Amino acid sequence: MKKSVFVTAAVAAFITAGAAKAGPEAEVLHWWTSGGEAKSVAVLQGEFADNGGTWTDMPVAGGGGDAAMTALRARVLSGNAPTAVQLKGPAIQEWYEEGVLADISAVAEAEGWADVLPASIAGHMKCEGSWCAAPVNVHRIDWIWANADVLKSNGIDMPTTWAEFNAAAEKLQAAGIIPLAHGGQAWQDATIFEAVALGIGGPEFFQKAFVDLDMDTLKSDTMVEIFDQMRTLRGYVDANFAGRDWNLATAMVMNGEAAFQIMGDWAKGEFLSAGKVPGQDFLCASTPGEGFLYNVDSFAMFNVDGDDKKAGQDLLAKLIVGQNFQKVFNLNKGSIPARVDVALDDFDSCAHTSAKDMAMSSDNGSLLPSYAHGMALRGAQSGAITDVVTAHFNSDMSSAEAVEMLANSVANSL
Ligand code: GAL
Repeated sequence: MKKSVFVTAAVAAFITAGAAKAGPEAEVLHWWTSGGEAKSVAVLQGEFADNGGTWTDMPVAGGGGDAAMTALRARVLSGNAPTAVQLKGPAIQEWYEEGVLADISAVAEAEGWADVLPASIAGHMKCEGSWCAAPVNVHRIDWIWANADVLKSNGIDMPTTWAEFNAAAEKLQAAGIIPLAHGGQAWQDATIFEAVALGIGGPEFFQKAFVDLDMDTLKSDTMVEIFDQMRTLRGYVDANFAGRDWNLATAMVMNGEAAFQIMGDWAKGEFLSAGKVPGQDFLCASTPGEGFLYNVDSFAMFNVDGDDKKAGQDLLAKLIVGQNFQKVFNLNKGSIPARVDVALDDFDSCAHTSAKDMAMSSDNGSLLPSYAHGMALRGAQSGAITDVVTAHFNSDMSSAEAVEMLANSVANSL
């Protein structure tokens, strides 16, 4: 205890000394550009500035971060890495293996991260035992969002099985309402697919298929059923879905043009930033089935020269895991804090559901990493799966063909 107080003071002194010389600086690459996302990242910018930091923003638009990751690769290859990068899951370790990540263990130890982060989250933030990323939140993927008025005026309850979802969708379609707001981008197709896979296959199936890449599971009849449900869902999206951004799909639910969206809880950030109230204007429920798909956003620091930038990295890492930031950021972002010691009193009912379900699924072994959001697999493998999911969704490929293609695509990626 004494030691950690001493180290905290030492790091603070170091940061202050750095500030006196040059002032902490950070160029931050991220993909948080929608309404709710921008509001959330502004919380970090504000705290950084309040602590004497100079923030250079490098936003790369594109939900799910594919474009941001392409931009990152170009910057690193040209020998000009950003100071801090929104990076998550096994991609953190992939970049570490390239020898370009900074070690932030001094801050992590001074701040006692090991005591306030669940082991499952801490594991993602470590590279061969040292701390190489700082977590900001826990997003849940397997959510359905709904327009409360649309459901009520059509006599529909939040579906608790996929059969109920399909029945509700048929009813809505007959009433001239778009059942499912969706943006046809590969990562959004993958987001729906993994929620359907968890629901129909169950947690053990999900683990075997999308974490262990077990061939028998990938080729199973259950996988055929999952693609069948994807084909059914394809019938519930509107004609203009191709290429649509996820937040525009959320807006369709907000304005009553569509009834449902299946999307991670950054969609809640969007509803909230538009002034919508959960339980009143919009409803949230986990997608049918058991389990919890988690997606932990985090920042990694890249090797850069200059005391000002290094001080910026230390300050950012410290603020990101700080109690206040974890609360305020997540109130805006739609997620829940990564730290276990942040009171949830000011959070809404969806966040409470998330926290409760996360604890329960952690106890019963159904807390699983999202493959679609880069938490479960390395890029080559998750890409191999998503290619097939999106090819199936955007053609009339049969479920049997999709399953065969899935097994081949994964096998070729190994
Ligand atoms: C996810 C990310 C979220 C959210 C979403 C849409 O991958 O974890 O924080 O930003 O993409 O952009």
